[in-house]
Amino acid sequence: MIAMTRGVPAPESFPIDEIIPAFEKAMREDGRKALGYVASPGYMPLIELIAEREGVSPDHILIGNSSLEFIQFITMTEAEPGERVFAESPSYDRVNLLFRRRGLNAVGIPLEIDGVDMNCFEDELKKGAPKFFYTVDDFQNPMGVTVSLEKRKRIVELAGKYNFMILEDVPYRELRYSGEDLPTMYSMDPEHVVKMSSFSKTLAPGMRLGYLNGPADFIARVKTWAGNSYIGPVSPTQALLYQFIKMGYYEPNLVKLKDLYRPRMEKAIEILEKELPGAVFPRPEGGFFIGVTLPEGNDMAELIPAAKEAGVLITDGRGFYLNPDDGKRFLRVPFCGLTPEELEAAFALLLPLIKK
Ligand SMILES: Cc1ncc(COP(=O)(O)O)c(C=O)c1O
Repeated sequence: MIAMTRGVPAPESFPIDEIIPAFEKAMREDGRKALGYVASPGYMPLIELIAEREGVSPDHILIGNSSLEFIQFITMTEAEPGERVFAESPSYDRVNLLFRRRGLNAVGIPLEIDGVDMNCFEDELKKGAPKFFYTVDDFQNPMGVTVSLEKRKRIVELAGKYNFMILEDVPYRELRYSGEDLPTMYSMDPEHVVKMSSFSKTLAPGMRLGYLNGPADFIARVKTWAGNSYIGPVSPTQALLYQFIKMGYYEPNLVKLKDLYRPRMEKAIEILEKELPGAVFPRPEGGFFIGVTLPEGNDMAELIPAAKEAGVLITDGRGFYLNPDDGKRFLRVPFCGLTPEELEAAFALLLPLIKK
């Protein structure tokens, strides 16, 4: 059985040989502090290091146990049940779920090849500004698209005009395999944007380390909520990450990750272009995913069991849409989790089942 469901970092990418000395140093140098309670906002040496890398003062930084939990906290501190929030459609499925759990009125704005449909975005704004707009603007999960510079500027402008926050989730931003970085929305308007990232994709997801960079009052609200939820985020891993970066392992590890994932992405694009000319999909320049809208006549409800029967597990595309029916023909290809050979083998089993 080949799992085309695994949108997670490849286990062979974990830098265990560097993590061992970094953890030893962390424990020897500061173990007594790092093994105690380290209250929210987090382990101060790491906060200061991240603040320096982000070019802000430490009161703009909050560390937490993963970025996903931050999203949950933000749904509690920033919005009440029934209030409007905007998200891309499709969007990260677990975030859709968190919005539902909190009873938010989540509006999905259709995602195009260069970001959300701006006409639709502006029409929705006229009906009522959201409390925040959640966007994954670099190599989106599940589509793989990157928001264009023009759309970034326009969205930021609208956030100022209608006074809403942008939650800019960028866990894949450092995993660019071709092309040039675009400025973050955060860099365009730090008053209306909270940038969120995590070390899950660039180091190891089991560390459960995420951080926020945003306006000090926003950070203070989430910090208090986090502190009342768990006192402080897990701290030995924060001390480990601090040493990992200080010892100079972080950047070389990014280079290794890009060398690992680039050929996987190229292989997936090559297969799709050759074998599925009737499908619609972006050509990502980084990240983990390609979102494929299969030709008319395909239906996930039929494709999933047929694929399983043939030996490939695929994810139900409907979960990525706030309106699940919109995802009936949506196939997420998580090229991160399969080698080029495994991608070929998976598509060889899957393609005969897809109506072209
Ligand atoms: C867009 C996006 N945000 C957040 C996360 C969760 O990351 P973390 O491991 O930090 O919770 C993921 C993981 O798949 C993701 O794709």
